[in-house]
Amino acid sequence: MPRIALLDKGTAARIAAGEVVERPASVVKELVENSLDAGADRISVEITSGGLDRITVVDNGCGMDREDVVLCLERHATSKVRSLEDLQSVATLGFRGEALPSIAAVSRLTIRTREESTAEGTVVEVDGGRVLNIGSAGCPAGTVTEVRNLFHNTPARKKFMKTASAEAAAITELMGRLALSRPEVRFRLAHNGRVVLETPGNGRLDEAVAAVFGLGQVREMVPFGAENDGIRVSGLAGRPGLTRTTRRYQVFFVNGRYVRSYLLSAALDTAYAGSIPEGRFPVGVLLLKLDQALIDVNVHPAKMEVRFEKGRDVAAQVVLAVRQALTAQPTVPGLNRGPSVQRTGFCGTRPNPSASDGPVTVPAHSLALFEDAGDNPAVRESTPAYEVPSALLALAQLQPTYILAEGPDGLYIVDQHAAHERILYEEFSLALVLGEVGSQMLITPQVLELDATAIATLKRFTDYLAVVGFVLEEFGAHSFVLRGVPVTIAAGAEREALVDIVDRLGEEQPADREQFLRITAASLACHRAVRAGDRLTGAEMQRLLDRLRATSHPLSCPHGRPTMLRLTKSELARRFFRE
Ligand SMILES: Nc1ncnc2c1ncn2[C@@H]1O[C@H](COP(=O)(O)OP(=O)(O)OP(=O)(O)O)[C@@H](O)[C@H]1O
Ligand SMILES: [Mg+2]
Repeated sequence: MPRIALLDKGTAARIAAGEVVERPASVVKELVENSLDAGADRISVEITSGGLDRITVVDNGCGMDREDVVLCLERHATSKVRSLEDLQSVATLGFRGEALPSIAAVSRLTIRTREESTAEGTVVEVDGGRVLNIGSAGCPAGTVTEVRNLFHNTPARKKFMKTASAEAAAITELMGRLALSRPEVRFRLAHNGRVVLETPGNGRLDEAVAAVFGLGQVREMVPFGAENDGIRVSGLAGRPGLTRTTRRYQVFFVNGRYVRSYLLSAALDTAYAGSIPEGRFPVGVLLLKLDQALIDVNVHPAKMEVRFEKGRDVAAQVVLAVRQALTAQPTVPGLNRGPSVQRTGFCGTRPNPSASDGPVTVPAHSLALFEDAGDNPAVRESTPAYEVPSALLALAQLQPTYILAEGPDGLYIVDQHAAHERILYEEFSLALVLGEVGSQMLITPQVLELDATAIATLKRFTDYLAVVGFVLEEFGAHSFVLRGVPVTIAAGAEREALVDIVDRLGEEQPADREQFLRITAASLACHRAVRAGDRLTGAEMQRLLDRLRATSHPLSCPHGRPTMLRLTKSELARRFFRE
């Protein structure tokens, strides 16, 4: 009996749709991009229940005639390219002719559309890819696309959806990016009837950035722009004092298309190398314009990546333009921590050897000399490569970033920040779980103007944050007032500490209170811990080592970095040919 059978058209379409439509945010992306391609300068999106129940996109673009409305639902039907050659110069965001049929296959889709020149519009209704009805409709010029009951016929996909608020957060973030790509277009996003994002659409990038990232951020950013060899780079770059714990606030557009790009992230890192603490990321909006023939956009099913033909030149220009802007506009005094407080090894990521400038870098050969506690953070927690030393005697401080210590079996180098983080993390975790962290009220409450995504995250976790000591109050649609913070936070660091927690919560989307407390404890610990560069007395070093040994996982910090490296006595003997 044959085992192979052709899938019926509906099943094949639903499977193929999975590539394009992963979650509600991908639907919003496709629909808004269609509106932009249709030349709209006003785009309004309304969602209910994170877009899982309903997504409506209204635009004032060119609209479609009846024939095109029917055709646009067919796979590979597009008005945007005609041949493979056209793809070389495609200036529109769409080009595959796949978005609408994919969305139609997994939802109930209604399109109402009218061209300006015609009096009557068309309405078409489709359910699970089947056209239910095509008729005439009175509607304003432009297109209204409504998607209901997303994934109702693909239960497996539906099961993987996060909560409505997590989906709404993803949509808000995406809309913010699309809005930044076109400051001349007025964007509006409402969730369950409340406006969460609105840009002025007056063509000014700084005003769009203010609407999306918050006014407080844009005040700390400087404009840059340069053009060379047909490559134009422009945008806004955060001053070195404005850093975040994630790359989420780095947004790149290539010829108006929002992309993720390792190359451009690396270029930004290089531009800021040495001027911001390691483990923190600069903030920036970067618009790149270059000959379409020099990029390939057809490398990713969601069109989120591009390949550059002259990648090196592009990166070099970005580095130059951003650096020039940063040096021309000196950092506001008080924002920059200055070179004396070198925060190398600040938490978050593992140290980046290429960016570190001090002699801290472990020479390649010594990687073999010193053992760390393992490589995989998960494994590191449970099965360290060596035992926790039964005693550690502080000998000296290196750099001052590391503590040199003697153990019964050899020499140890302890990263003071990572070690202190581990100690505080365990203390704070326990205190948070027991509800023992009190709150201190701020003498001057602080207004937090944040981007829509951060505000959504704050709203989602306000109750949890209150339990750990953050006293927050909503202040208009886009800001909060911070009135109190957990007592563990040092004076002056209140805002930064909360913003870092919010970034991490947004990134990790904790599903329950336990995960929330873990993330919060790690973030608070990171803030309070001694930094690389802080000088310690002998007694302080010894106390740190003793407290570290008393923790439940002394060998790694809460982010998974090792706290110590060991050089055993036998290794020393072997290296000096004593054995
Ligand atoms: N809001 C709209 N206004 C006017 N025309 C539209 C709109 N949305 C879709 N269309 C028309 O329908 C066609 C099909 O849209 P669809 O999104 O499926 O494909 P595409 O945009 O051409 O390519 P891609 O799959 O890469 O998005 C478009 O080429 C366009 O002509
Ligand atoms: Mg499209």
